[in-house]
Amino acid sequence: MEQNLIFTNDVAGAIERLENSGNHNMTVWIADTNTARLITPAPPRLITIPDGDDNKTLDTVTRVWDGMERLGATRHSLVVNLGGGMVTDLGGFAAATFKRGVRFINVPTTLLGAVDAAVGGKTGFNYNGLKNEVGAFAPASDVIISTCFFDTLPVEEMKSGFAEVLKHAMLSDRDEFLRLLDHDFSRPIDHDDMLERLRRSVQIKVDIVARDPNEQGERKALNLGHTVGHAFESLAMQRGKPVPHGFAIAWGLVTEAVLSHIRLQFPSEDVHRLGNFVRDNYRGFPFTCDDYDELLALMRHDKKSRDGEVTCSLLADIGDYRIDQTLTDDDVTAALDILRDLLGV
Ligand SMILES: NC(=O)c1ccc[n+]([C@@H]2O[C@H](COP(=O)([O-])OP(=O)(O)OC[C@H]3O[C@@H](n4cnc5c(N)ncnc54)[C@H](O)[C@@H]3O)[C@@H](O)[C@H]2O)c1
Repeated sequence: MEQNLIFTNDVAGAIERLENSGNHNMTVWIADTNTARLITPAPPRLITIPDGDDNKTLDTVTRVWDGMERLGATRHSLVVNLGGGMVTDLGGFAAATFKRGVRFINVPTTLLGAVDAAVGGKTGFNYNGLKNEVGAFAPASDVIISTCFFDTLPVEEMKSGFAEVLKHAMLSDRDEFLRLLDHDFSRPIDHDDMLERLRRSVQIKVDIVARDPNEQGERKALNLGHTVGHAFESLAMQRGKPVPHGFAIAWGLVTEAVLSHIRLQFPSEDVHRLGNFVRDNYRGFPFTCDDYDELLALMRHDKKSRDGEVTCSLLADIGDYRIDQTLTDDDVTAALDILRDLLGV
C-alpha cells in the first residue's frame, strides 16, 4: 500500500504542490462544520458535512456524492479531506467510490486522525447502528501530517489521540514510551516536538501496515488496548454516558498491560508507570465487579475475538508483541480487579 506521508506545518504549500503535481481538473474539499473553519480563505469548492460520529452515515456519504456531482467532479479531480477521523473515513470512502475512484489526500486535523485514522487505508461509515460496518481498504494517495490545527483542538480530543500515540510506542520503542509518559497536557503545544512525536508514531503504524495491509496477521498488533477498550466504550454507551474513544483505549491499554503481565511476564514497573499516567490524565471509568459479566460478553463479541473467546494482542515487553492471545475469564476478571486498584475506581 503506497501512501506518501508529508510531515509539515506548511499545509497550504504542501497542498498546492500536490495540486500541481497531477493533471487534475479541479480540487474538491470535504470538511465538517468545525474543520471547514480551519482553512482561510474558504476554498472555492467545499462540501461541508455535519460533524460528529452520529453523522458518519450513508446519508452523509450520499450528500458528498451529490456535492461532487453538482460541482462537476470527474475521475480526474482531486479530493482533499480536511478533518478528524470522521471526515477522512467518510470522505475517503466517498472519493474512493465516486466514478469508481477519485484521487484523494487526507489532511488530519485531530491527533487521532494524524497518528491513526488518516493513515493506513481504512475508510467507511457506520451502518445499522454498527461502527464502521460498511467500508473499503482505500488508501489516500498522500497524507499531510501537521500539528498546526491542534491549537483549537479541545484537550479531551488531544488526550484521546494521545492514547494511540502511547499504543504505538508500546508496540515499538521503550525510550519513546518513557518520554511520552512525561507529557503534560496543561502546557502549550511545542509544535516542533509534537511533529517529531507524530513522525515516530505514524512510522510505527506504517511499518506494520506495510507488512500486513489487510489485517491477516501482524496488523492485529495495532489492536492493542482495543479489545478491552471497546468493551468500556460500549458499556459507557449502554449507560447513556459515552466516553471519548481514546479514554476507553487508555483504560484498555492498562488492562491489557496487566493481562500481558499475567500471561507473558510484561514488566510490572511498566504496568505501574502506564497506570499512573492514565489515572492522572484519563479519569477512571466508574465500574464495579457487577459489570464484569457484561464487559466479558462485550469482549467476546469484539470483531477481533473468535469463537466466543476473548482474543487480543498482548506484550511480552515494550516492542515485543504477540497477536491472537486467547484469554480465560479468570485472567480478565483478575486484570479488571487490578485495573480498578491502579485507577482508584
Ligand atoms: N480509519 C482508521 O484506521 C481509523 C482509526 C481510528 C479511528 N477511526 C475513526 O475516526 C473517527 C474518530 O476520529 P476523531 O477522534 O478525529 O473524531 P472526529 O473526526 O469526529 O473529530 C472530533 C471533533 O473534533 C472536531 N475537530 C476536528 N479537528 C478540529 C480542530 N483542529 N479544532 C477544533 N475542533 C476540531 C470535529 O469537528 C469533531 O467535532 C471515528 O469515526 C473512528 O471510527 C478510523
